[in-house]
Amino acid sequence: MGKKILVTSALPYANGSIHLGHVLEAIQTDTWVRFQKLVGNECYFFCADDTHGTPIMIAAKKMGKTPEELIGEVQKEHYKDLTSFYVEYDNYYTTNSEENKTYSESIYLTLKKKGHITSRNIEQSFCEHDNMFLPDRFIKGTCPKCGAKDQYGDSCEVCGTSYSPKDLKDSHCALCGNTPVLKESKHLFFKLQDFQDKLKTWMETGNRLQEGAQKKLQEWFGSGLQEWDISRDGPYFGFAIPEEENKFFYVWLDAPIGYMASSSNFFKSEQKFNEFWKDGKGEIVHFIGKDILYFHGLFWPAMLMGSGFQTPEQLNVHGFLTVNGEKMSKSRGTFINASTFIRYLDPEHFRFYMACRLGNGMEDVDISFDDFVSRVNSDLIGNLVNLVSRVSTSILDKLDRKLGSLTPEGKSLLEDLLAKEDEIKDAYQNRNYSKVMREITSLGDKVNKYVNDYAPWNLIKTDAEKAREVVTVSSNCAKILFTYLAPVTPVISDEVRKLYNLDKLDFANIRKPLENITLAPYAMLSKRVEEKNIQAMIQDTKDAYEKAQKETKLETVKTEPAKEVTESGTITIDELAKVELRVGLIREANHVEGADKLLNVKVDLGEKGIKNVFAGIKASYAPEDLIGKKVVVVANLKPRQMKFGLSEAMLLASGKDKTLSLFVPDRNAEPGDLLK
Ligand code: MSP
Ligand code: ZN
Repeated sequence: MGKKILVTSALPYANGSIHLGHVLEAIQTDTWVRFQKLVGNECYFFCADDTHGTPIMIAAKKMGKTPEELIGEVQKEHYKDLTSFYVEYDNYYTTNSEENKTYSESIYLTLKKKGHITSRNIEQSFCEHDNMFLPDRFIKGTCPKCGAKDQYGDSCEVCGTSYSPKDLKDSHCALCGNTPVLKESKHLFFKLQDFQDKLKTWMETGNRLQEGAQKKLQEWFGSGLQEWDISRDGPYFGFAIPEEENKFFYVWLDAPIGYMASSSNFFKSEQKFNEFWKDGKGEIVHFIGKDILYFHGLFWPAMLMGSGFQTPEQLNVHGFLTVNGEKMSKSRGTFINASTFIRYLDPEHFRFYMACRLGNGMEDVDISFDDFVSRVNSDLIGNLVNLVSRVSTSILDKLDRKLGSLTPEGKSLLEDLLAKEDEIKDAYQNRNYSKVMREITSLGDKVNKYVNDYAPWNLIKTDAEKAREVVTVSSNCAKILFTYLAPVTPVISDEVRKLYNLDKLDFANIRKPLENITLAPYAMLSKRVEEKNIQAMIQDTKDAYEKAQKETKLETVKTEPAKEVTESGTITIDELAKVELRVGLIREANHVEGADKLLNVKVDLGEKGIKNVFAGIKASYAPEDLIGKKVVVVANLKPRQMKFGLSEAMLLASGKDKTLSLFVPDRNAEPGDLLK
């Protein structure tokens, strides 16, 4: 009987598109799962979209959608992107599900009952305008260390310093630009330190962690385990915490529970679910990137221990994908989305190349495009695919597509290939895919040498039966090699299976020879990579990035299009009355970092308060000339979210660029006065 294994990839965040980094993880996992299935283990592969949190709530609002609508669309797109790389999930679910809500609540309540939850008041930045507590990433300001402007509340992208949002100079809300205030609120904490000893035993027993991961965890242990803040105040897109008011589970609490929810949604039966999560009859194996080890190596097992569930058997941690030796970059065109890649290149080539590059360590994994082209073209196409294609068209046609019997020489070559079976299986099992690929290509070289030595393309003219012998041997070799490769190149391997008229190409059948059978017609297995497609893909990525940059800029300076009023071009007095024109006094005016045409102005509208406005007037006004000026303002314009913040009103002006002129009241007028 085979093993029972439940495998997961980390749940992609619903706030962005799937890029090649996500694909690396999906392929690493999928290759392992396919291998488990091919050796006859009962293996399941679960994933989902990670849907909760403030950024998704804000993104949906900006698009005028509900968060549910947005995450529904994103989930479909993510699933399509990932499966286009032949990643085969047993279930790809969502964390915003009934199952997830149920498990999250019950795990939390059990932890609470057992005394592992505590609460206390903390002070936190709060935006009175948006009426919400601001996560670090929603506070911006000047870095206290190097003075770089417009940095996030948790760390500076210029000098790399980490700090608390409180240390930020002139901090402001990233949504509306107002200065946040510090406000107290009760937060709930999970007492991670209660699990100190259990966690230590957990991480030191079995074969759970790579050396590097183990070391990292030891380091965190050394600096002491901290209580973990698991609550967020509303408004927050997530699950409400039971027995509390306006408190929600922090997204990282329900995210890993999403693994359970995805499996429960698939199994339907509680008994099957319990085999893995309760009874320890199966193994739970997570594949994750190195950035989320803390969550999976400490919080997650502790939550499971505290609520009576099985802990993971294995955490497999990988490094980050780099392109041409550097971090993926949008402006260089190397931050490549999955959907862009498949428009230009073959996803199976990426699987092959990733397998060549992936070991079982936590180092970053580089894709260098020159190397990509040469590996795919020489090792996959020139060596392995060619082994099949060179004999499977005209030569086999001349032999009525019939194989003969294996010669002793042929049998001994097959034995050489089969002798590597255990080594290759071990390497797959240990995620040492680059080793698998080295073994397979070197076996491929050996077989190609055999074929070259006999040159069946010549033999076919002089000694057809000798040619048949050689083709029989090389076909049997190809069958073995493409079985070895099947976890990496499932589609090519399946074409090979069809060519040899087999039901299955798996490890159980690997020793069964192909003799005296008729082969199916040959279908193209895979084409060479064309260099120009890579250039085009990079250019496309760059263009898309630049276009998006321009659009956000344009959007911010776009004036509302003049709506058609009535057929005659006139409006009624009632229609005019809808426009609230007021006198505004400019209190503050500032440049906007990164904006070519905009100034950020704060206009005082008297009793209507001070409004934040982004106005496209930079070409004709300097900020210092504006302060103290009275202007005419559309005061009841619906606030618009712009790239740089919220614009809550509009200044009236005529002309454009350098000739732009603000409308100002002619005589003495008070801020807030209504124009009639
Ligand atoms: N939503 C969380 C995971 C929750 S799991 C309960 C998250 N999402 S993510 O979309 O940011 O990342 C998903 C996975 O992709 C993570 O394992 C992450 O490490 C991995 N990668 C994201 N960018 C990556 C690269 N550039 N390279 C390789 N993997 C990377 O984290
Ligand atoms: Zn705000």
